[in-house]
Amino acid sequence: MRYLSAGESHGKGMVMILEGFPSNVKIDIGEINHELGRRQKGYGRGKRMSIETDSAEVLSGIRFGQTLGSPISVFVKNRDWENWKLNMSCENIFHDEGLSIRSPRPGHADFPGAIKYNQTDMRNILERASARETVIRTAAGALSKQLLKEFGIVVHNRVVSIGGVEDLDVMDKDDSYWEKVKASDVSMYDPETEKKVKQSIDKAKEDGDTLGGIVEVYIYNCPVGLGSHVHYDRKLSAKLAMEIMSLQAVKGFEIGAGFETAIKPGSQIHDEIYYQDSYHHKTNNAGGIEGGISNGETIMFRAAVKPIPTLMKPLQTVDMESKERVAACKERSDVCAVPAAGVIMENIAAWVIASELIEKFGGDSLEELKTNYNNYMTYLGER
Ligand SMILES: Cc1cc2nc3c(=O)[nH]c(=O)nc-3n(C[C@H](O)[C@H](O)[C@H](O)COP(=O)(O)O)c2cc1C
Repeated sequence: MRYLSAGESHGKGMVMILEGFPSNVKIDIGEINHELGRRQKGYGRGKRMSIETDSAEVLSGIRFGQTLGSPISVFVKNRDWENWKLNMSCENIFHDEGLSIRSPRPGHADFPGAIKYNQTDMRNILERASARETVIRTAAGALSKQLLKEFGIVVHNRVVSIGGVEDLDVMDKDDSYWEKVKASDVSMYDPETEKKVKQSIDKAKEDGDTLGGIVEVYIYNCPVGLGSHVHYDRKLSAKLAMEIMSLQAVKGFEIGAGFETAIKPGSQIHDEIYYQDSYHHKTNNAGGIEGGISNGETIMFRAAVKPIPTLMKPLQTVDMESKERVAACKERSDVCAVPAAGVIMENIAAWVIASELIEKFGGDSLEELKTNYNNYMTYLGER
């Protein structure tokens, strides 16, 4: 499976063409919109999220609620477009110079992008660098989740910390745990921590500052054997790392015990294998992936999200025309987007796993995919 996305943050809308999705998968478009809605929420988001409710318009590839096997194309309108029509026009018309950005904002793609693409107006960079693009990744994930459901594979995320304030970690993450996390404005389990985090976000807002955090993603019921050790670009760990690291603002990635594995001795890190009806590991420090292959345990990865780079108390930068030192410009912006980043990561993970499932089991239709999967599961049971 593959997809391409296109669209600028304040352009007409965002568009995706996804190819390789099997036929006969039941698709509820409401589920896509549900995921798009989750992506817009979270305490600390900017005003734009309240003026826009994203809604997916499926243009092709689905008929009577089922995929056809043909390319699925999706359009998500940017509702703010109405206010930007002239300034984001494809036509060569007059535009408001005041909306041009001549000094690169620290922490954004502005500076290297302007040099690389030979632009003087950094709006021509930021419009595409913006995380608005992630509506498409979320839509691809929402479609993938509906395929994964057929195989009992479920993906969840939780926010581990925001601005250094850590949520309580609960060992047994059952359905009721995930319900609570999903209902939280900051994707956390403990209401007391949530309160503290909200206070920190309010304080950052007051100070003209922003906050980052850490997210964990859990993928349940993945069979042994997704990904491969035989070539670097077939490793499941590498594919997850690439996709997650490509999400705006992600600055760190680890699987399972991750960076902790560098500190502890091997005897405390590697997961002992035992057998009782099926194979299990005593612990899951590997995070469900060994040698780039899923090992049947829950896949777990963690990612660090940096603070939002647009500050209402702006940092210093340089006007690239006059070379004078100036304050970076401020545009309506989030104070904290960590919960939203968690929802996007969850959907990215669903996309990666669905792609791997198709890679391993093949099949043009859901029925063919299931037959191949079931044969493999029978083989697994006999090992
Ligand atoms: C969900 C989400 C929302 C974001 N919202 C904003 C925002 O409102 N303002 C901002 O300056 N950056 C925002 N960012 C971060 C920037 O898009 C990102 O830091 C920037 O494009 C530079 O890319 P890099 O951080 O990956 O190097 C957001 C990121 C995510 C994941």
